[in-house]
Amino acid sequence: MRRPLVAGNWKMNGTRASVAELIEALRQQEVPAAVEVVVFPSCLHLAQVVSGLGGKAIAVGAQDCSTETGFGALTGEESATQLADAGCGWVLVGHSERRLILGESDEVVSKKFSAALECGMTPVLCLGETLEQRQSEQTLEVVGRQLARIVADAGIAAFERAVVAYEPVWAIGTGLTATPQQAQEVHAAIRAQLAREDQRIADGVRILYGGSVKADNAAELLGMADIDGGLIGGASLNANDFGTICRAAG
Ligand code: G3P
Repeated sequence: MRRPLVAGNWKMNGTRASVAELIEALRQQEVPAAVEVVVFPSCLHLAQVVSGLGGKAIAVGAQDCSTETGFGALTGEESATQLADAGCGWVLVGHSERRLILGESDEVVSKKFSAALECGMTPVLCLGETLEQRQSEQTLEVVGRQLARIVADAGIAAFERAVVAYEPVWAIGTGLTATPQQAQEVHAAIRAQLAREDQRIADGVRILYGGSVKADNAAELLGMADIDGGLIGGASLNANDFGTICRAAG
């Protein structure tokens, strides 16, 4: 009932030349029609990727957006209005690298989430705990608090048009992956929290797992009941690995 979704977050990687090669290699990949695929290049390469993947069933998203919509005096920012105009249907919101390295608060994340929706984009709301929080058994509390803020501000109905991604910080780029059972436990808790507001919306929302998903561990993770796809970092820069992960989701 929930269509599998595989998303590739390219982070701060790529040159025009390497992005051209990646586009070409992605175009060669066979992906089952049942699986929805979206890639998130750096803002600099959005136009190149939108035009390069044209005709291929891979959507394009941005890694971030401004809290403000429309146009105005905000040097260095891109609004969801501009991103949608550039051909992006999706935007990552609240990635832990932005929360922890760039100091984005729950309030800022919430504003970005609403800005994306206001402009007709699908926000992918990223949630996750640090290693210290997991070790002190605060995982469900931390993730629950991050989610509750968005539900309180945007309302449960917003989750009919949004995707959630659970990305334990300690598993990102470290080669350490949450076990399928650890990930499933948090995904189920996220869905249960949404279900307390609206069962139908909770049943329909897609919850992705992110954190060292690779070609060889994807099938097991994506096979769990409440894991509806993956948010892939490093492995999304290799078209063959990314294609294998997309096929594992089908
Ligand atoms: O957003 C994807 C991400 O943070 C996971 O990165 O490199 O561990 O797959 P990676």
